[in-house]
This record gives sequence, structure tokens and C-alpha cells, in this order.
Amino acid sequence: MVAFILRLCLIMSAMSGGFAKKPSPPCPCGSNLPYSTCTCSVLHSCLSPSLNLSPSYSSATPEEVVRSRYSAYSLKSIPYIIKTTSKDNPQHYLEDFEVWKARLEEDCYDKYTLNRCDISSSNYSASASYKEGDEVTVTFTAFMTEKGAGGKTNSFEEVSTFRREDIGGGNLGWLYQFGDVD
Ligand SMILES: *[C@@H]1O[C@H](CO)[C@@H](O)[C@H](O)[C@H]1NC(C)=O
Repeated sequence: MVAFILRLCLIMSAMSGGFAKKPSPPCPCGSNLPYSTCTCSVLHSCLSPSLNLSPSYSSATPEEVVRSRYSAYSLKSIPYIIKTTSKDNPQHYLEDFEVWKARLEEDCYDKYTLNRCDISSSNYSASASYKEGDEVTVTFTAFMTEKGAGGKTNSFEEVSTFRREDIGGGNLGWLYQFGDVD
């Protein structure tokens, strides 16, 4: 009897996909890659539990940072949004981390599904060498679809400025400085 029940459990578990590895959901940035292999997840994991950006964040391009911040909004990875923002950001930077976090938690595009961010242009050059204080701009379109049946898709275009700044330990990385939304 026990053996029979066990076998039944095994069959049911196999039918419900219990043995198959769950596929990773697609990355919200629209890369068409599973989140687990997208650059966004690599960058998100640069933020340590003590909220420091690891040196590997240094090699991220501004375009990759745009996409990873967009997917962080989608995944509600609020500390990542905060920690990739420049202290010189006049629009968003708040001295008080907890207040800022609470504000973002209140509404992180909750009514929308964010699943596509298109980069249209940038003056970043992979072959250039950048020093502290250098700035580049990235133009992108962020898409958002209202949750629920027949939800409309809205979008906005933004020109974001990123600045090469100290991310700790003498390492430089691109941080979001401000955005102009059309
Ligand atoms: C990129 O363009 C912005 C805006 O025109 C400018 O401020 C910035 O210096 C440019 N960066 C580079 C590296 O050319």
C-alpha cells in the first residue's frame, strides 16, 4: 500500500512537471533571454546584502545599466534602483535611504507589467576610456502594459545621463544622474 501511494505520488509529481527544472522566466528588459542568463541578473547580483556594488559593476555599459534598472523596477528590486543612482541626481536622490525605499515601494509601476525597454541611441563608446566625472547619455523607450485583460501598452522616451563615479573601493561605475522624459 505504501509502495503504491509512493508510486502514485511520483507519477503525479512527474505530471505536474515536478521533475522538470522550472524554466527561468524571461528577463523583463525584453532581451528575450531567461532572466537567469541575462546581463540584468548579473548586474542585480552585483549588489551585496550590505548594499555595496561589487567591483564587477564597473564593467557594465550605460546601456546595460538602463536595462538593468528597468528590469529592477519590474522585479521591484528597489535597493538596486537606489544604489545605481548618483548622489548628484537632483530629481531623485534622497539622503534618507529608508524614506526613499518606502517611497519607491509605494508605487513601483504597480499597475503595469514592464517587459520591454528599447535603447535607441547612446554616445557611450566601448573603445573610449572614461574617467571619474565623465558623462554619457542613453536614449531609450520604456514600455508598460496595464495589468488585466486587454490592458493598454503605454510607453515613454527618456534621455538619461549617466556619470562615471566612485562605487566604493576606488572602483568606477556608471550611475544614473538624471532623465529627461519626452
Ligand atoms: C554625450 O552627450 C551629452 C549630451 O549632449 C554630453 O553632455 C556628454 O558630454 C557626451 N558624452 C561624451 C562622452 O561624448
